[in-house]
Amino acid sequence: MALYGYQEIRTPVFEDVHLFKRSLGATSDVVNKQLMELSSDKDGFALRPEGTASVVRSYIENHLDKKEALSKLFYIGPMFRGERPQKGRLRQFHQIGAEAIGPASSHPLLDAEMIALAVGIIESVGLKNSRLKINTLGTPQDKQAFSEFLRQQLAGRKDQLCEDCRSRFERNVFRILDCKSEGCKAVVRSLNLSTDHLSPESRAYFDAVLRALTKRKIDFEVSPTLVRGLDYYTHTVFEISNPALGSQDAVGAGGRYNRLVAELGGSENVEAIGFALGMERLLLAMGDVNLQPSTVSVCVVAFSEDDQALGFDILSVLRRNGISGDMSFAKASMKSQMRLADRIGARHVIIIGEEERQKGFATIKNMADGLQHQISILDSCELLVNYFRANAQNV
Ligand code: HAM
Repeated sequence: MALYGYQEIRTPVFEDVHLFKRSLGATSDVVNKQLMELSSDKDGFALRPEGTASVVRSYIENHLDKKEALSKLFYIGPMFRGERPQKGRLRQFHQIGAEAIGPASSHPLLDAEMIALAVGIIESVGLKNSRLKINTLGTPQDKQAFSEFLRQQLAGRKDQLCEDCRSRFERNVFRILDCKSEGCKAVVRSLNLSTDHLSPESRAYFDAVLRALTKRKIDFEVSPTLVRGLDYYTHTVFEISNPALGSQDAVGAGGRYNRLVAELGGSENVEAIGFALGMERLLLAMGDVNLQPSTVSVCVVAFSEDDQALGFDILSVLRRNGISGDMSFAKASMKSQMRLADRIGARHVIIIGEEERQKGFATIKNMADGLQHQISILDSCELLVNYFRANAQNV
């Protein structure tokens, strides 16, 4: 996030229920079926099902549009949706998300940056074979034209739709496009979807986003049926899926939402785009990808209780001097303690035994080349601290 200039924002885990209803849309599945509501005597609250609504609420409340041209914010935290849990679908899950919000801030390169950031995070954890699907919904007028077009196309075939989709036909016809039932999928496949409902400006904007992605060698697939389940989207929408996930295959998703700030009472001209990745899904898809263990610089290997006490003193001095380290507090053999050093990725081992204690030195073993040195631990371990400082690039 820092690489792309985003700063962290922390919003409350629960907020006024109306914030979510107004942002995500009363007919969205998240509001209709999944909102986990809390109520006190007079107020209704809900556990946040996602991060965007709260970030926008905070943006408006703190008048960020008067303070900066573009607010680039990220969040990591728990989200809640009352769903039937299954693989990759949890009632409490975690998102890492980013939002770029600012007056008249729409720019195809910003859309491309947002997508590059999402894809970059996914790649940086070693996850391969992800697929990026992208589409544009255009302006609210284009969206309206598209929903009328869809209703016309589907009007004669309502009886082939599932019960949910028959009611979606009136309330939120877009949702039919990503219904999972086989009958609806067949109807959707046979639709003749085009981009005719888009204004020339919307189409030019989308083309510029696609060109920017191509130039950055980000592979994508334009998917005319990608409409997203939350009401606030306009223009660019995208979803990143991974085949390792099975049926809940979206690792992350996002899009532009140019009207949400105004709809929640903020300035008319503030535009925005963002995404969120599902962290549990990322982990699931990564499977046994080899995660680098968190590494420490040194591992103390000590034997008797006295050795351990001295080793612990040495560790404390090193830590005070910014050198990370750990030790086994168990009474274990040299071999098993060396295994621990290996597992935690220690670059050096400090061995403290009877002889070291008596003579006031420590034996340092460099794990990379196996070489050993003896260094005095008298005078508050000054020489030892200096040794690690001098070898900072290896520490
Ligand atoms: P979303 O598609 O609803 O979008 O969720 C984003 C990601 O959160 C999904 O792709 C998925 O990885 C993860 N996710 C959602 N629900 C669950 C669940 N029940 N269990 C596990 N993971 C889940 C949003 O939330 C938008 N706020 C994204 C956005 C940000 N759009 C603009 N800015």
